[in-house]
Amino acid sequence: MTALSVSTSSAASLRADALVVGVAKGPKGIVLAPGAEAVNEAFDGKLAEVLGTLGATGAEGETVKVASPAGLKAALVLAVGLGEAAEAGYELEALRRAAGVAARALAGAKKAALALPAESAEEVEAVALGGLLGSYVFGTYKGNGNGKEPVGELVVLTVRKGSKDAKAAVERAAAIGEEMNRARDLVNTAPNDLTPKSFAAIAQAAGKEHGLKVEVLDEKALTKGGFGGLLGVGNGSANPPRLVKVAYTHPKAKASLAFVGKGITYDSGGISLKPAGHNETMKCDMAGAAAVFAAVVAAKRLGLAVNVTAWLALAENMPSGSATRPGDVLRMYGGKTVEVLNTDAEGRLVLADAIVKAGEDNPDVIVDVATLTGAMVLALGTRTFGVMANSDELRENLHALAGEVGEQSWPMPLPAELKKGMTDSTIADLANMGERMGGGLVAGLFLQEFVAEGIDWAHLDIAGPAFHESAPFGYTPKGGTASAVRTLVRFAEQTAANGKA
Ligand code: BES
Ligand code: MN
Ligand code: ZN
Repeated sequence: MTALSVSTSSAASLRADALVVGVAKGPKGIVLAPGAEAVNEAFDGKLAEVLGTLGATGAEGETVKVASPAGLKAALVLAVGLGEAAEAGYELEALRRAAGVAARALAGAKKAALALPAESAEEVEAVALGGLLGSYVFGTYKGNGNGKEPVGELVVLTVRKGSKDAKAAVERAAAIGEEMNRARDLVNTAPNDLTPKSFAAIAQAAGKEHGLKVEVLDEKALTKGGFGGLLGVGNGSANPPRLVKVAYTHPKAKASLAFVGKGITYDSGGISLKPAGHNETMKCDMAGAAAVFAAVVAAKRLGLAVNVTAWLALAENMPSGSATRPGDVLRMYGGKTVEVLNTDAEGRLVLADAIVKAGEDNPDVIVDVATLTGAMVLALGTRTFGVMANSDELRENLHALAGEVGEQSWPMPLPAELKKGMTDSTIADLANMGERMGGGLVAGLFLQEFVAEGIDWAHLDIAGPAFHESAPFGYTPKGGTASAVRTLVRFAEQTAANGKA
């Protein structure tokens, strides 16, 4: 794991393998970003010129390396592009991405110092978080540790005087970034290794480590409790389902949040089997559970004055002689019956059980997070998650909070008329499929049926951004991204600060 620290020493005197500075596109060519002053001095004020000669343009994501002159203790200077120059200060997301690009480019280095714009505590946090997320490498299975080791140590350089809040900012970044990287590990772990049982064991171990209360319902307890959704999805697999509750409570909390995550450790589609080309990445179908798990641990590490409970609805969706058939009727937790018309619409079944269970604690808000529908990917692309809710205020709030922390989201409606196909089941209360058009919204409407009266509820469909398949960018690697974690943590922070959700 990459070590993170903050320092007010001059970039010139810091011993490191590499020094990172920012460059941007100015009106008359490339300009250096704040933070690069001492490095520029060592280049006799000609750093921008030198970088320009080497082909730097300041474009977002660009990296240019140059050997250090005498006067710098680091051997190498890495210039990272920030995009258009911003006189009034760079956006926090631009800083996160630049730091992430630099950390990726420096994989293998022992120690790097980030001399990027970092005057305010927010900027320090952004640089630290981007750096930590960018240094992520998933090396569990590669004999050579995926070719490169993550940067060993990142030092965030800041001009901020009285470094106390800068230190706090870096600690916040570490709490959030490390838990996000843990979520990424869970998503990237092969589905033969990450089963409902092993995921539950990981949650139990983390609970011990951080002092969180963890309860696990195994298949026996689920049967006894009547969790027809989890059992119905899990019964085709040799790896039985689990429902895991991870609870963080704070003595001064005035509000309670329940985060419910879809945790399908592998989605083959079940008897409604997915064709080849659609199942290779379906280990990512537990990204919602990984996100709510990371968020509750981060809330604890940050000591937020709010109660947060994460519910992990874990099952493996497989075809077999004991699998649920299209045509079966499940009796869900709470008593509603569901006719399963397509076993590939399994996420809503495990979530329904968990949402009913979460509602019994009477939280102020339930937010579920799920890689729920391909339709949401068609609608919003691969970098944006959809936000649905039974409250306009909650939906708009989560969308706004996502934007604040650098996550792309978009508010989506829950049009009542799309319910018809599901309520038309001739033999059960609901069918697990309805209209094909607006499939992401139909899934949201299905979940809404399981939210107890009087509880505000939101649904984040992260099917697009949860798993990144194309080239890395900013602080986003290939594979698991930890989508929605920052939004959930920000929501918990806001709730703690306001004393209400
Ligand atoms: N896990 C999938 C959704 C998904 C698709 C996640 C692509 C990530 C990337 C989900 O369980 C699923 O199969 N949904 C079906 C629902 C349909 C059968 C109503 C879908 O979207 O096709
Ligand atoms: Mn499915
Ligand atoms: Zn699924």
